[in-house]
Amino acid sequence: MAETARAQTERLPGDAAGVARAAALLRQGGLVSFPTETVYGLGADARSGRAVAAIYEAKGRPRFNPLIVHVADAAAAARIGRIEGDAARLAAAFWPGPLTLVVPLRPEAGLSELVTAGLDTVGLRVPAAALACALLAEVGGPVAAPSANPSGRVSPTTAGHVLDGLSGRIAAVLDGGPCPVGLESTIVDVAPEPVLLRPGGLPSEMLAAALGRPLARRVEGGAVSAPGQLASHYAPSKPLRLDAGAPRAGELWLGFGPGQAHDGLNLSVSGDLREAAANLFAHLRTLDAMEGEGIAVARVPETGLGAAIADRLARAAAPRA
Ligand code: TXA
Ligand code: MG
Repeated sequence: MAETARAQTERLPGDAAGVARAAALLRQGGLVSFPTETVYGLGADARSGRAVAAIYEAKGRPRFNPLIVHVADAAAAARIGRIEGDAARLAAAFWPGPLTLVVPLRPEAGLSELVTAGLDTVGLRVPAAALACALLAEVGGPVAAPSANPSGRVSPTTAGHVLDGLSGRIAAVLDGGPCPVGLESTIVDVAPEPVLLRPGGLPSEMLAAALGRPLARRVEGGAVSAPGQLASHYAPSKPLRLDAGAPRAGELWLGFGPGQAHDGLNLSVSGDLREAAANLFAHLRTLDAMEGEGIAVARVPETGLGAAIADRLARAAAPRA
């Protein structure tokens, strides 16, 4: 690779100067990781094929999959995709926030074909995190961003996580501290009927309430393949054993709820699913770095954010490719 790709990654402060530098690097075609309320994204100018190709290279993604396009507000989103009917309803209810809508692409939007992987749809998201909003406003154009982790690893929820995986491979990371939600956005494909592609930071019960009816879930092997639907997409290197009552010899413990005094960590001692979601990826990383042969995970209820937590845990526990 070119020497520039090996240059040191800048760690930018989460203030106006950091945002200005991050925006300048993005406009020049550089890769910049930035915090959203869900996880840190690895951003690139969505109109530049070269910049978007560099995302795949930095992540070591084995093949081209469609990327989520981030914009500052719903009006900017409507210039890139057709947001009508249920999509407009969901956008009005939940943007800015942890929801990605897959809608018909406006060809005149000028996105690189690498962003959409040649599909005639586009995944759009208006993040709520203040730094992400400030950055997108300053860039003034669409920013393609998958999660800022090497392919197949757990998504980063701190700037330190980003640097652990991508230091030296990206221009900069904008440090906004830990992500408050901690799980990737919920993805809904709205055409022709709303379908849940990925459970995430917005509970599907809230989507159903806004639509006045429950959502179907697209099964694996459906028409569109999303890497978030692949079995071992969110994998620590230690094996995970789910729905465990207690750790076995040699296992570390990932607990949920009160009353567990084992070697390991607890997602939320008080049994709060929001706290558990925010801790999930950081705790998996910490446990992965500790002494132990595996990780036993307590049962987490599958309501609200628990559905997305269970989804990520199931992937983390799936056999590796
Ligand atoms: O919270 C998030 O969504 C984070 C932050 C950075 O915004 N991003 C994220 O991106 O998780 P990524 O690339 O790790 O996951 C994006 C998912 C993939 O499963 C991709 O296949 C799907 O979105 N996707 C994007 N565009 C799509 C489209 N047109 N049709 C179907 N799936 C799409
Ligand atoms: Mg990802």
